[in-house]
Amino acid sequence: MAATLDSYRSYKGLPALAGLATIPEAARPGLSVEACVGRLKRYHYAFARLHDILTARITAEPIYELKTAFSLHSYLCAEHVQAIRNRVAEMREPPLGLEQVPHEGLQAYFDEILAAPATALLLLGLYEAALPALDQALERHLRDTNPLVDAPSIRIIRFARLELADMIAFGQKAIACLVGTGERETASPWLQMLDDCLAAAGGLSGADAPGPIPARQHSATPYVYDPVPRRDERFQDLWNQGVNAESFIYNEQFPARPKTVMMLYKRLREIDVPEMMASIIHETTGQPWEYYRDMSRQLWDEARHAMMGEVGFVALGVDWTQARITHNWSYRLNTECTPIERHAVLYFIEQGLMTKTGKRYEWEIGVESGLPLIATLQDYDWADEVLHAQLGRLWYIPQVGSWKEALEYGDQCWSRILSNWQTVKEQGLTEHANWWPGVYQQACVSWGTQPDPKVMGFSETYEGARADLKSVAASG
Ligand SMILES: [Fe+2]
Ligand SMILES: [Fe+2]
Repeated sequence: MAATLDSYRSYKGLPALAGLATIPEAARPGLSVEACVGRLKRYHYAFARLHDILTARITAEPIYELKTAFSLHSYLCAEHVQAIRNRVAEMREPPLGLEQVPHEGLQAYFDEILAAPATALLLLGLYEAALPALDQALERHLRDTNPLVDAPSIRIIRFARLELADMIAFGQKAIACLVGTGERETASPWLQMLDDCLAAAGGLSGADAPGPIPARQHSATPYVYDPVPRRDERFQDLWNQGVNAESFIYNEQFPARPKTVMMLYKRLREIDVPEMMASIIHETTGQPWEYYRDMSRQLWDEARHAMMGEVGFVALGVDWTQARITHNWSYRLNTECTPIERHAVLYFIEQGLMTKTGKRYEWEIGVESGLPLIATLQDYDWADEVLHAQLGRLWYIPQVGSWKEALEYGDQCWSRILSNWQTVKEQGLTEHANWWPGVYQQACVSWGTQPDPKVMGFSETYEGARADLKSVAASG
């Protein structure tokens, strides 16, 4: 007699179905391919919108910890978009229709969060509303779909939920630190309106009955991207170009140890790269998704490079706020260049890092310094930059022409931006104060060594340095 769902046994009681599920679980029909694809397209839309929102809000967000977290989270969203796109393409779906808006209510939902007029609202919209709503939709997919037939979707959903949980946990902590009860109360009608937008769309997955779309609030007029980089109060004197870090690092007279302090400064200063790359990614439309994924990976790497500087300073016992982490580069590129011009400058700079005096040299200093942490930081920084040069070849060069033309164009774009050393001084924006001796002295205290008078006396500024040369090592 044939076994029933209740009585069927696998061979020697081994886990059935490759361990995916039990036979009774896999015997429930679950979602059709059409229903499954319909839902996947909504998760795709949600991750893509979240990617754009997080990217767009990096530049003008003053708080460094949020800037860096948005950099990570936008990249993670970009990876999940990619995974879902690949999955939809496997499910009899040409044309994929992935660029279509699945529902007007969903569009309003994400438009509102993008346009959130303050950091507190943005955090609530992202981390208390959108990301948890997406996670709930994914969790429901796992319950509704057939665990055997839809195993490939389940695999990417489980992975997405792992990272969603990390993002939500960060957001909850950030909200606890930054959002007061007053702000939360003020936000509550808006959060209710967000819920109504989701309800209008039949929930994020579209599995529920749709409702009426509420009137827009913050997105009633279309969102305008703010390209001006902002920093929190720990970052002072943002126009300061008083210490020429490259000329110190490349000067053979100076020993390796103090050079590591200057390299940490250069790393932390790289926070200007996410500020700038965010503008390229947000303002460039119509590229294949792989472009956005790769550019977001690079943006995240640059945020990570800044955090390497932060870690290095703290490990050395140096108060990094005494250094002047200028925003000159991102400010000028974002306000004076088009997206392709910015990309050209970035590529030109990163090519410069591939030479003998670039990233390899910085790693060698790290090794020579006898500080294992610095060697590790520079080792990975170098590896990341090799990847970035490859990504530039993949996505930037084809937009301009040959490798030579692309390089010349980058050179041209940047030399058009003349040094503003004198101008910002005359405008009273900075005195270009020399912060180096104070920072170097702190490191000496932590090493228990006497400051080297020659190193202490370093006072070369960026005055007279060609703007492009200044920045050749400034970023990337
Ligand atoms: Fe970098
Ligand atoms: Fe880079």
